[in-house]
Amino acid sequence: MELANKVAIVTGATSGIGAAVARILDQAGMQLVLTGRRYDRLEQLTRELKQAVFLSGDITEPELPQKLLNLSLQTYGRCDVAFNNAGVQAVGTVETIEIEAVCQMVQVNVEAAFRFAYVVLKHFQSINDGHLINTSSVLGTKVRIAAGAHAGTKYAIEAFSEALRMELANTRVRISCIEPGLVKTELHDYWEIHPTESLNVPQPLQPEDIARYVRFILEQPPHIRIPKLMVLPESHIV
Ligand SMILES: NC(=O)c1ccc[n+]([C@@H]2O[C@H](COP(=O)([O-])OP(=O)(O)OC[C@H]3O[C@@H](n4cnc5c(N)ncnc54)[C@H](OP(=O)(O)O)[C@@H]3O)[C@@H](O)[C@H]2O)c1
Repeated sequence: MELANKVAIVTGATSGIGAAVARILDQAGMQLVLTGRRYDRLEQLTRELKQAVFLSGDITEPELPQKLLNLSLQTYGRCDVAFNNAGVQAVGTVETIEIEAVCQMVQVNVEAAFRFAYVVLKHFQSINDGHLINTSSVLGTKVRIAAGAHAGTKYAIEAFSEALRMELANTRVRISCIEPGLVKTELHDYWEIHPTESLNVPQPLQPEDIARYVRFILEQPPHIRIPKLMVLPESHIV
């Protein structure tokens, strides 16, 4: 699919994978609507890109998805792609886990992702076109000790995506999941033992590596569907 002059909404655009996807879609000539909580980051990225607008906010605010879609339609007159990517990670053992952080993670990774997906999909269905890409994880397909709740949020994204794919298979609305392994982003900044040590992956992926595959998924012609794409770094075992 030709991406030039098409429009994408990117959630979690203030850092990591979302920011890299915004940059690569900008290079492909797409027009963008960016979101995240950090206003300064959005302002800076928008200045760097050719055609982008932003709306900062907490993705768990129930009204934000509709406001993002409205901004896309008002600014560009269309919305073709939604990259449903905002996410957080709360991991820990029974002794160390912070229960409130787990519940906050469920709200961001699951509830907000479902809300955003349904809002954009109602629009995509009304125009019988569009592509939703959900950011899952390798942990949407397997579990690790101390990461059960986190994996659970990504299993939820996988189940949701597969059912949507089935529901929309006879339309031109496409659903994909990208399933990254370890990527060097701010997601891991807060943990005492960085996963490069605990997972023994000396060279994690870079956000740009994932962005290339997101672009690849979007560039396929409409008769080709990529429901899932796992991207792992060398030395990934568990
Ligand atoms: N890094 C990895 O190893 C890895 C592996 C597999 C999957 N993933 C997934 O990739 C996605 C992106 O993560 P990343 O690795 O790029 O991490 P990141 O650099 O920490 O980016 C996370 C993004 O989510 C946004 N976000 C978090 N909570 C939010 C909230 N309440 N409201 C609005 N935005 C919020 C952040 O923006 P603000 O803080 O500005 O709000 C930020 O833009 C996540 O879904 C993550 O689960 C990452």
